[in-house]
Parts: sequence; C-alpha cells; structure tokens
Amino acid sequence: ADNKLWGGRFTQPIDSFVESFSASIQYDSRLYVHDIAASKVHCRMLGRQNIIPQAEAEQIIAGLDQVKGELDRGELPFQTRLEDIHMHVENRLKELIGPVAGKLHTARSRNDQVATDIRLYLREEVDAIREQIRVLKKNLLALAEAHVETIMPGFTHMQSAQPVTFGHHLMAYFEMLNRDRQRFTDLRSRLNRLPLGSAALAGTTFPVDRHWVAGELGFEGVCENSLDAVSDRDFAVEILAAAALTMTHLSRFSEELILWSSPAYAFIKLPDAFCTGSSIMPQKKNPDVPELVRGKTGRVYGALFTLMTLMKGLPLAYNRDMQEDKEPVFDAVDTLRSCLRVFADMVPGIEPQQKRMREAAGAGYATATDLADYLVRRNIPFREAHAIVGRIVRMAEVQGVDLDQLTLEQMQQVDSRIEADVAGVLTVEASVNARVAVGGAAFDTVRAAIAKAKDQLAAY
Ligand code: ARG
Repeated sequence: ADNKLWGGRFTQPIDSFVESFSASIQYDSRLYVHDIAASKVHCRMLGRQNIIPQAEAEQIIAGLDQVKGELDRGELPFQTRLEDIHMHVENRLKELIGPVAGKLHTARSRNDQVATDIRLYLREEVDAIREQIRVLKKNLLALAEAHVETIMPGFTHMQSAQPVTFGHHLMAYFEMLNRDRQRFTDLRSRLNRLPLGSAALAGTTFPVDRHWVAGELGFEGVCENSLDAVSDRDFAVEILAAAALTMTHLSRFSEELILWSSPAYAFIKLPDAFCTGSSIMPQKKNPDVPELVRGKTGRVYGALFTLMTLMKGLPLAYNRDMQEDKEPVFDAVDTLRSCLRVFADMVPGIEPQQKRMREAAGAGYATATDLADYLVRRNIPFREAHAIVGRIVRMAEVQGVDLDQLTLEQMQQVDSRIEADVAGVLTVEASVNARVAVGGAAFDTVRAAIAKAKDQLAAY
C-alpha cells in the first residue's frame, strides 16, 4: 500500500485485479496536456497567494515542464499501478524534484482536477469541431453554387413530388450544419467555467484565487457551487447531444448519397477515392464512406445514452462512476471529427449526373401542383383545382405520357378554363423558377440564399 498516494490509511495492498479494473490510464492519458497546463496555473496561484513558498512553486512548475516533455516524447511508461493520468504526472514529478512535489496537490482534489481537465480538453475539441463544420459548410456552398440550375426531382414519401435543384437540396444540408455549429458555439460558454478550487466537494480552507486561475486558463468564469462543480457533466452531455444531432444530419445526407449513387438512381457519381470495390464482383463501386458515416451515427447516439444513464442516479457529489464518462465522450468526439473530415473532403468530388437528374425531375407528373396553381390564378378554389388536375394526371397516366405531352384540347376536355398559356407552367424549369418566395427553389432565390450564406460564413 505504501506506493499509493493515499497509502497512509490502508493496511492491505490493493487487490491486483481491482488495480487494473479501476485504472483509467489507458484512455485518460490523452488529458495530460490539459492536466499539466491546469496544474501549472494552480501552482502559480499557490505561490502568488503565499499558500506555498514562491521558490517551491517555481521548482514544481519546472518539474511539470519536464514531465510534459517526457510525455510529449512518449518516454513516460504508463502503469496501471498509478491508476490515472493525474497520478502519473504527480508520481513522476516526485521522482524528478522530490517531496516538494507533494505541495502541488494543496487546495485541490482529483475531483476538481479531472473536471477541469475534461473541460479544457473538450473546449479544444469543440473549437476544432466548429472549424470542421465551417469547412464542410464552405465546401457544400461551393458545390451548391455550381448547381443552382441543376434540376432534380424533389421527393416526399420517396415519390417524385416537385422539381427542385441540386443546389437547393445541398443548401438544406447547409442550414442543418449551420444550426449544428450554432449549438456548439452556444454550449461552449456553459462548458467554459472553472471547477478548480472546489477541491473534493466542499471547497477549500486555503485562500485560493479562483478568478485568477479562471482567467489564466481562459475560462469565462468559475463554477459557482463546489458540489456542482465536481459532479456536473452537463457540458459533456450537451456536446454529445449536439454531436448526435450533427451525426443525424450527416447520416441523412449519407443515405441520400448512397441512394443517388446506386445505378437505379444514377443521380451522382462519388469520387473513386471515397469508394471501394468488391472482392468478387468486378463491376462494383461501393459507397463505403457514406455507409460508414451512417453506421457510426449509432456509436454517437450510444455515447449520449451511456453518459445520461451514467449520470441519472448519481447522488452529489463525486462518485467513481464518473470515471466512465471518458470513453464514450472521447469516442463520440473522435467519431464526429473523423466523419466531418471525410465528408468535407468528399463533398467537392461529388459529380451530379445532370441529364439523368433532369429526366427524373420531369417524370411522375412533378408539375401537377403548378397546373393546380395555374387554375387557382384563374380564380378556381384550390381544392377544386386539385380535383381537376387529378383527373388530368389520370388521363396522362392512361395514355402513358407526361403532363406537358397532353394537347391543349385534351386538357380542355377536363376543364375548359385551361388556355394556351398553360404550356408555360408545365415544364420543370418553369416549375422551379416559379418558386420565388424566400426559401424557395427558384434559381435566383437560391442564388440569393447562397450570397447570404457566403457573407455569414465570411463573418466567422
Ligand atoms: N480517474 C478519476 C476520474 O476520472 C479521477 C478522479 C478520482 N477521484 C477519486 N475520488 N477517486 O474520475
């Protein structure tokens, strides 16, 4: 028991299986940069406040820099005996500078220490995610801009509904990602509060300066209640919730890319570098990247539920259960970041097959609503117009032709109020370009939306 930092109270050494059972170093070692950064500021504060002598504070800080160097170079071996990253750093510090190392832990506990480390770590990840979403948005915008006039079918119930454009469709994903980025920006300020100075749970007897530490570490303020500070993981839940929703959007996009690239649709070609072949079927080009993104969405949802389930029954304040927060959080953040990266890289290589999309847009009587709207403009109530067009669609269906292939006389047999100018509303171009209200599919309307999005993106 004597090699443990809490050895004083114990008469028996820890069970050897329990030692590895309770260790977290295999996954929390990635917190070392943040652990040491926070320890250095804590130590400077201890010196400034004369809680420990200034000279000793300097000795500790120099030692911490040395430990950091060793960790950077991968020279410090990890040992389950030392449980977690906090103990590894402190233990190595003691080997390097002797017993004065023991003063670093004055006025703190691993409980406020780990909470601080995770917040610092996640703050960086959140900023990286925000930047990755920005890049993906930029790439989407460029592709949308190139395809403002690329007409494709719009669907409801997977049935041809009304024509839209590829640019308009891509801008829908731009909007989703816009909200996703806003969510990460918004949660950042709640994440960015300092737990350190709360010690184990009740606060500390030493005259610490929490606000100074917060400022030095770039926090916007301190956690106001010591019990909450050490037991709160809301910030991690919020990140996983925002990550889960971002993955939902990437997964829906993936699903469409998979469908569209199948030969039955043939709306797009995915870049070869993002597909794989089959070991048996020579003709195959499989959309593995979107499939994997769609699949990985489940992991991120799982992480969110793991963490919420972990937290729901925990009494205040710290409980060891909370060590289980790290693996799902790390995995979800890593997964989201890899999916954002692969998407941002893949999007510029998507090649819409314009001819095929255009043909499909005209099929399925996709301009029927336009014909109904035409009748409404001739003062026919919409419900009545709907019924008239229904009969015209049935006529076209019986003859096996599209709406714009019916003669004027044939349409007039159904309703005599239809006139020669109807031809101007039945093409897919006319249909799309009639949708000029804000948010609609018309070429110029989408151009305006893209211009607005560009300004917004430039302002980041
Ligand atoms: N490895 C621990 C964790 O991640 C650090 C805090 C340990 N605190 C304690 N009282 N055992 O939660």
